[in-house]
Amino acid sequence: MDKILIEGGRSLRGEIKISGAKNGALPIIAATLLCPGTHTIYNVPELRDIRTILQLLVTLGATWERIDKHTLKINSDNITEFEASYELVKTMRASVLVLGPLLARLGRARVSLPGGCAIGARPIDFHMQGFQKLGAQLELEQGYVDAKVCGRLRGNTVYFDIPSVTGTENILMAAALAEGTTIIKNAAKEPEIANLIDMLTGMGAKIEGRDTDRLLVHGVKSLKPAEIAIIPDRIETGTFLIAVGAAGGDVTLTNCNPAHLPSLSEKLRSCGIYLETGEKSIRVIRSGPLKNVDIKTMPYPGFPTDLQAQIMALMTLTSGLSVIHENIFENRFMHVAELRRMGADIMVEGGKAIVKGQGKLEGAQVMATDLRASASLVIAGLAARGLTEISRVYHLDRGYDDLVGKLSAVGAKIWREPEN
Ligand code: UD1
Repeated sequence: MDKILIEGGRSLRGEIKISGAKNGALPIIAATLLCPGTHTIYNVPELRDIRTILQLLVTLGATWERIDKHTLKINSDNITEFEASYELVKTMRASVLVLGPLLARLGRARVSLPGGCAIGARPIDFHMQGFQKLGAQLELEQGYVDAKVCGRLRGNTVYFDIPSVTGTENILMAAALAEGTTIIKNAAKEPEIANLIDMLTGMGAKIEGRDTDRLLVHGVKSLKPAEIAIIPDRIETGTFLIAVGAAGGDVTLTNCNPAHLPSLSEKLRSCGIYLETGEKSIRVIRSGPLKNVDIKTMPYPGFPTDLQAQIMALMTLTSGLSVIHENIFENRFMHVAELRRMGADIMVEGGKAIVKGQGKLEGAQVMATDLRASASLVIAGLAARGLTEISRVYHLDRGYDDLVGKLSAVGAKIWREPEN
């Protein structure tokens, strides 16, 4: 296992190419299970989560090959198994995304229930209620959801109490092959869902309402293989924007989609960070002092919970008070204790963190607790005086494609070392 070391206090200058979105690639890879044939997926990031879902697909009978660094071909002619084991689901919750496609194609899926995780309980009850609405029979046994349907699933209305990203994706995939029309109400509107809809449409699915919270899926009898490019990772993009905000400097992010970060862009501009957006690029400059802002995490297009930890690190560097409300996950403040070790003054009251900016951070030994918390510690380390040592960085490898290499290329002093 590796640790990351950062000698902070250097400004960042140059260009960073953004990778494909982890959360875009995972459902699209799962969707290849829906029909036989060979699918081609471009702009796939090199991440541990991607390797995990491919490993899961192989256990189900699929085969895959990388044509080049970022292009995957997946063949799903022989899907014979229908079980996603605890071993795989516990390392990556998004493994539940195979439930919808397996149920639609084979009429059977057995998927381990994900347990709670570092950021909250994260149940999958909305997914399960949705499949039941489509006519599946579900049983919970020995920690597994066993879903069955006789014949085809049947279209129905599925309403989400809270817009769920993977819930919407699972129901979309299942409904694509159902008999009749499914209406998903209060659907999530994240750009990754539009990416999946484009994949499914390419496969021959009939879906209306892209980018809205009301999706209409007219089920079809069969689908065909398709080609799709994964959208740029908006969370990776946001992480680098915040990193430059924290460390200072002038960096251009390429291969990204600025339109996918409406709330973050507004907040960064209010902090005194200059952003210049092109069609597929963003130039970010920070030279002056940082201003404090308040943040409320919300479903898209609101401020993403996946950038909450990173913006908190930035807020510790202002000289004002910032209130950060976490409205999506109940326990997503694990990074607070680590940031405090670096000199941050943060108080947590229920779902809200009150950050009293100290204008600076000090390097320290800290521990990564989850994927995005790790990114916030890297940002803090880049801005801090002295050496920061981050252990348990395997979390970062789940979701950031070569973070250390990309930051080194723009002048950061950051490297990996094996952890004892
Ligand atoms: C996805 C993202 C994750 C991001 C999150 C919120 C992927 C692979 N992961 O996770 O990076 O942080 O969206 O933007 O795309 N909920 C229930 N019951 C359910 C489902 C969800 O109560 O069955 C609740 C959750 O606990 C949470 C809220 O709904 O409070 C939204 O969660 P959801 O959008 O489902 O998150 P994920 O899809 O797991």
